[in-house]
Amino acid sequence: MDFRTHVIAPGATSRFGADALLIVCAGDALAPGLDEPLATAVNEAVAHGDFAHKAGKQAYLRQVPGVKAARVMVAAVLQSSPKALKAAVAGALGTLKGLGAKHLAVLLHGFGPLSAAHAEAVATAWGDALYVYRTTKPSAPAAPALQKLTLLAASKAEATALGEGLARGAAIVEGVTLARELANRPGNHCTPTMLADEARKMSRAQGLRVEVMDKKAIEKLGMGSFLAVAQGSAEPPRFIVMHYEGVPKGAAKNAAPVVLVGKGITFDTGGISLKPGPEMDEMKFDMGGAASVIGTMRAIAQLKPKVNVIGVIAATENMPGGRAVKPGDVVTSMSGQTIEILNTDAEGRLILCDALTYTERFKPAAVVDIATLTGACVIALGNVRSGLFSADDGLATELQAAGDAALDPCWRMPVDEDYDEALKSNFADMGNIGGRAGGAVTAAMFLKRFTAKLRWAHLDIAGTAWKSGAAKGATGRPVGLLTHFVLSQEGKAHAGKGTAK
Ligand code: BES
Ligand code: MN
Ligand code: ZN
Repeated sequence: MDFRTHVIAPGATSRFGADALLIVCAGDALAPGLDEPLATAVNEAVAHGDFAHKAGKQAYLRQVPGVKAARVMVAAVLQSSPKALKAAVAGALGTLKGLGAKHLAVLLHGFGPLSAAHAEAVATAWGDALYVYRTTKPSAPAAPALQKLTLLAASKAEATALGEGLARGAAIVEGVTLARELANRPGNHCTPTMLADEARKMSRAQGLRVEVMDKKAIEKLGMGSFLAVAQGSAEPPRFIVMHYEGVPKGAAKNAAPVVLVGKGITFDTGGISLKPGPEMDEMKFDMGGAASVIGTMRAIAQLKPKVNVIGVIAATENMPGGRAVKPGDVVTSMSGQTIEILNTDAEGRLILCDALTYTERFKPAAVVDIATLTGACVIALGNVRSGLFSADDGLATELQAAGDAALDPCWRMPVDEDYDEALKSNFADMGNIGGRAGGAVTAAMFLKRFTAKLRWAHLDIAGTAWKSGAAKGATGRPVGLLTHFVLSQEGKAHAGKGTAK
């Protein structure tokens, strides 16, 4: 990935040397200022019905006389927002990635003042469009020729802002790509052991400290709930902890870490409460939360903010079998609270509750868990926004803002204590399911019972971590949201739960 900016003199766009030039035009007509012969070429395309200043429209013009770049694409947006820009660039790249161009120059025309967010939108659109999964598909199309992106700026100051956005975008692209790659891998190519190996590999390459605990170590920690899920599988579980230190030891104040906790079910059959057959393959994506934690740690290691961040992952399969946990079994969690496992398919919360308890030792500033937790959240929010659950208004507001800034949005859901009723059990401190009604909320309420000592939020990404259908595959969400959230914590001195808010 080679992202850069270039200050272009007024009237010099036609002479810029690149293999392809993408002009994104904002507004319902061509704004003044585009140099000749580009302005005439765009106007002619409109006159001939090849292009229109309407959102979603694009046109490909080859070898425009007098233009140095052999390929010119124009794409229209009505608003100059980063969101509209990202959609337009994604559309144009759909065409451009199939061509021979290696170096693409992008001009944002008629946008008014440009910000870092615009550049970040271009970068992330690039990353989303150019990723190809090939680990288990050798016949996958060759990687697109595109290698280099130059974002044209009108002034040095604008180039500085755009450069900052490109750097942030590049790091997010690395993180999103890694998260997509890991989540796309089938269950037999991404076991808990393999996931831990990948976390270790990334951590070492990026200079992060990493610990991987095996079953014995997990037993020693007393994670009876996590182990109950793992006991039915022939694949051993792993508990992964990655440390990014952005604040040197002893530099007090804002040293309390942000902890990200990922659900790492490398395959979810449902266990004895077996899932129905159709689309069960999609349950290989049930480690999307874990993948987003690894991806975010990757992005953070590149951006080096002055924040301490710890990534925690509980990884196991959820399988039926002679040793599998059964409906009605009661297990003791690391917190000491007992759980009646009424449905073995509600396994995500069973591994997360112990991982959340584990984070108490870090005296964190905030803990955010990320999980493909409930089908109910898919019903509630579809695949547009992730579900956000937190009793802490400040933390919820920060996460929402981070999602908006990253174009990786979430939506706050309730955590009223009234919902907790549903988890009552006659045989343990709680059951692991409520009824069907409000299923995403009762799952969050279950987790909430393990977070009394934490400033905590939960992101349910069941609807946003992957796409079904013809374009089936992982999205890498919410790496963008999480990266922005961590960056927003720079310089903030939270003393964690119960003190400064
Ligand atoms: N991994 C699933 C959640 C899921 C379902 C994600 C569909 C994406 C699409 C989770 O482990 C699960 O099975 N949840 C159950 C909970 C129920 C048994 C209370 C669900 O949502 O059906
Ligand atoms: Mn399940
Ligand atoms: Zn699951």
